Amino acid sequence: MKRTLIAMVTSVVALSACCGQGTEKKTYDGRPMDEIIASLTLEQKVNIVMGTRRGDSNPPEEAPGMPARHFHDPIEDISQGRIKGAAADGYAIDSLHIPSVIYADGPAGLRIAPLRDGDPHTYYCTAFPTGTSLAASWNTVSVGQIAAAIGEEVKEYGVDILLAPALNIHRNPLCGRNFEYYSEDPFLAGEIAAAYTEGVQSNGVGVSLKHFAVNNQETLRNGVDAQLSERAMREIYLKGFERAVRKAHPWSIMTSYNKINGILASEHEWLLNEVLRGEWGFDGVVMTDWWAEENGARQQAAGNDLLMPGTQRQYDEILAGLQDGTLTEAQLDRNVANILSMIEKTPSFKNYKFSNNPDLDGHARLSRYQASQGMVLLENDGKALPLAEGCKVALFGNAGYDTYVGGTGSGNVNRKYTVCIDEGLRNAGFSVYGPLSEAYVTFIEDQKKLHEAASFWALPEIGEKPVTKAEADKAAIENDVLVLVLSRMAGEGGDRELRKGDWYLSDVERENMKTVIAAAHAAGKSAILLFNMGSVVELDWDGTDFFDAALHVWLPGQEAGNAVADVLSGKVSPSGKLPFTWTGKYADYPSASNFPLSPDSDRAVRYEEDIYVGYRYFDKHETEVLYPFGHGLSYADFEYGGLSVKKVKGGIEVALVVRNTGEHAGQEVVQVYVSAPENVKDRPVKELKAFAKTRTLAPGEECAVNILIPEEDLAVFDETAKAWVINHGIYKVHAASSSADVRCTAEFKK
Ligand code: BGC
Repeated sequence: MKRTLIAMVTSVVALSACCGQGTEKKTYDGRPMDEIIASLTLEQKVNIVMGTRRGDSNPPEEAPGMPARHFHDPIEDISQGRIKGAAADGYAIDSLHIPSVIYADGPAGLRIAPLRDGDPHTYYCTAFPTGTSLAASWNTVSVGQIAAAIGEEVKEYGVDILLAPALNIHRNPLCGRNFEYYSEDPFLAGEIAAAYTEGVQSNGVGVSLKHFAVNNQETLRNGVDAQLSERAMREIYLKGFERAVRKAHPWSIMTSYNKINGILASEHEWLLNEVLRGEWGFDGVVMTDWWAEENGARQQAAGNDLLMPGTQRQYDEILAGLQDGTLTEAQLDRNVANILSMIEKTPSFKNYKFSNNPDLDGHARLSRYQASQGMVLLENDGKALPLAEGCKVALFGNAGYDTYVGGTGSGNVNRKYTVCIDEGLRNAGFSVYGPLSEAYVTFIEDQKKLHEAASFWALPEIGEKPVTKAEADKAAIENDVLVLVLSRMAGEGGDRELRKGDWYLSDVERENMKTVIAAAHAAGKSAILLFNMGSVVELDWDGTDFFDAALHVWLPGQEAGNAVADVLSGKVSPSGKLPFTWTGKYADYPSASNFPLSPDSDRAVRYEEDIYVGYRYFDKHETEVLYPFGHGLSYADFEYGGLSVKKVKGGIEVALVVRNTGEHAGQEVVQVYVSAPENVKDRPVKELKAFAKTRTLAPGEECAVNILIPEEDLAVFDETAKAWVINHGIYKVHAASSSADVRCTAEFKK
């Protein structure tokens, strides 16, 4: 078969670009970099390549034979540093105008301590919607805007580098950090990450793209060995990073804790030097994830410039490594030069006088808008939504009154307030049924007294309040609509579990759902289901009497309730689409039998599904799923027409017209999938290559959608040739409303 080879991936050029990287052309503070480096003592160099924490503790072993690793204590984090609650400070040398640079989390907003001893000023940050919600908006413009707002908080609170965005692939729905990540699809993940990166960095502060790479679970995260083919790595697990690096030029990137085919990511010379720097042209700083240490000298030699937050052991290892040849001084100098080049761009270097007063009110408005952009209308039979103005709502579910707005761990944001769903509904002029409201508030308060409060690592333990038949029946008679919120929390440090109350519905939740639906329908009212979680649960509903409408609201940030009300009321027509496939059954996921570990291993996970992750797998096996990738309804209806595909210089131009044929205004996310020529073996049925979100279209209004797919995006990784190649033949281009709802198809010949 004919094909065009577009990039040999381990070319001589690539190798020399990274390994021979000198410091001679770089400058720092107006002086040649070589001169600065020559003026540093060895001790200063080693200090520069690590954060200033230097604490050392004795962490427990996580599995037999696993290297001992640290779990950092967030309380301790919060007590230290120039900006309280930041994750790390860099090393300063005043005489050389090298300031201490500040690094802080995290994806859903800046994470610093909100209060300081003896200081009446507060340092709250805006909690924005979490990763899945951002990706579900398929809106790179609004993601860019909220990211610019996050960047403003970073800058105005005196921080230099934000430890975000997080874009690992949703390989399995149980990954505890999926809420921070974007999608099962690397194109969508990469586009959202690029928009986020550009937004933050437009403020003159940096991001750290994380966690690089193949970090798709929390179980044994400190060293689990992810085993996969180079093709799966290149096409699925690295692709999003590649897009974000090439498009948005992040200042830094954070390596993950795990191993990739036996080598720790932070010691992965091939990954960091050949691929990241050599092939993709990354010229920023590579830093470790926090306390990821095995051997500081090997990390340094591999091109992991900065060791965070820095330990005495790593310090000693670097010195020992310089002695025994594990590390050369040239490699150390290279890393120092990378770090200094980044420092020079920071507000701290420029002595920026930060205000400690970012525009929190303006950012709250952006957070609310973005949250509504991400909400996914899964069902709306009989048009139960939007709700009638000012109607009476019976609100069921703990999270209706204690709404989850973000996950736990480093992705948490210390916000000033949370608008829960009940409050948001009242703000929007709905009346929220008092007796239920009182019952829930009392139940939640009583339960909270019995359980440990949710904290950095700990998830809330409160079970769902049981709903009695009498309670539901009365509520159904006295109200216009019944709304039930189903919630899940997740966080860093652990994966979700295949048990009732986590992946499966608990008995109480199942009963509550049945009770609420029966009561609503007996009284001739609608029953609406809201999902308040960063991912999904198993819904093995038999389908006989489901809710009349279902809306996924994700972990939508501090303005949660207002944003939910915006969508329920119809002020905003839902326009989010699922960034992953939602199957009915866990066993249907292609990674189910290899997660979190492969059955025959206590430390390795084989990615046997290869590139067939998410819809790439379900399409191929024609598996029926609950909700396909890209699914999401609107209060409007859209018709697609006039699809044309044209070869132009540099790529393929796709044009079509989208028309709102419904009765409400709304936005549509147009997804463009491409199918490889039929004679090409072992390829997904189709792959997402572009998408566009329309502006709000009034009923009857239409708009033209024009998208360019760059030719190189047609390339696939040839495992044997170790190269990206473009196959020749007839390609099909599908304009689709979801991966299972292709509206029109056209062809072009390559
Ligand atoms: C997390 C990172 C985070 C870092 C600093 C680590 O535990 O994995 O995502 O940026 O801590 O808080």
